[in-house]
Amino acid sequence: MAFDRVPLVAGNWKMYKTSGEGAVLIQDLALLVTEAWDQVEIAVCPPFTALKAVSTVIELDKLKMRLGAQDCFWEEEGAYTGAISPRMLKELRCDYVIVGHSERREYFGETNETVNKKVRAVFAGGMRPIMCCGESAEIHDGGGTETFVRAQVREGLAGLDPGQAAGLVIAYEPIWAIGTGHTPIPEKANDVARTIRATIGAMYGPPAAMSCRILYGGSVKPENAHHFFAEPDIDGALVGGAALNADSFAGIVNAAR
Ligand code: PGA
Repeated sequence: MAFDRVPLVAGNWKMYKTSGEGAVLIQDLALLVTEAWDQVEIAVCPPFTALKAVSTVIELDKLKMRLGAQDCFWEEEGAYTGAISPRMLKELRCDYVIVGHSERREYFGETNETVNKKVRAVFAGGMRPIMCCGESAEIHDGGGTETFVRAQVREGLAGLDPGQAAGLVIAYEPIWAIGTGHTPIPEKANDVARTIRATIGAMYGPPAAMSCRILYGGSVKPENAHHFFAEPDIDGALVGGAALNADSFAGIVNAAR
């Protein structure tokens, strides 16, 4: 982690937690992270149906935590059955939207092109995207990681202005590390993070590259988090499974202090 970037630890709850369960989790979590939240930006990304309940707890209990959604559509409104727009998320006080998670790419047909539309819509809606990228085991084993991730970044993040690029959050999540208990060695993850930063630099200039935050994601646990956070180009984590439990998520947050 570099000193001039505020670390971000974001929990991706995926399709877990009803609104009632989500409200309990955020309250339990708050008790464990109050000492960290001046140093670490903490975000939780519940399912759409739990956003309102979690948002209300954050507001009423004056928690220094940010709210994020896990996806959105790129249009502001219209006849798009089942879709949720950035405007709807902003109204619920979301600050972040995860875009292009590998599960969305795999099960819901997202491409770099649709990811790009969503990234731009999230900025236009006054929030920030957490754009996910990362290679499959096959690409990793074939040595194609950097080329693949660079293309995801170039295409997924095209057409921004440098100010927006400076506010980007990019999560590097090797698909083979998500939910598997396997992780890359932290130096290797940092190599990819550095490539991502260099790609942003080539697209939007060095100030944007130095300001944007790059998270590592994939089987982050309290036991391994500090190894990733010790790397200079890794500015935090996107956490799945371990974000569903207040103790383990707090352990990761506290490792980022
Ligand atoms: P995991 O998921 O922490 O359960 O591996 C990370 C993610 O998919 O964002």
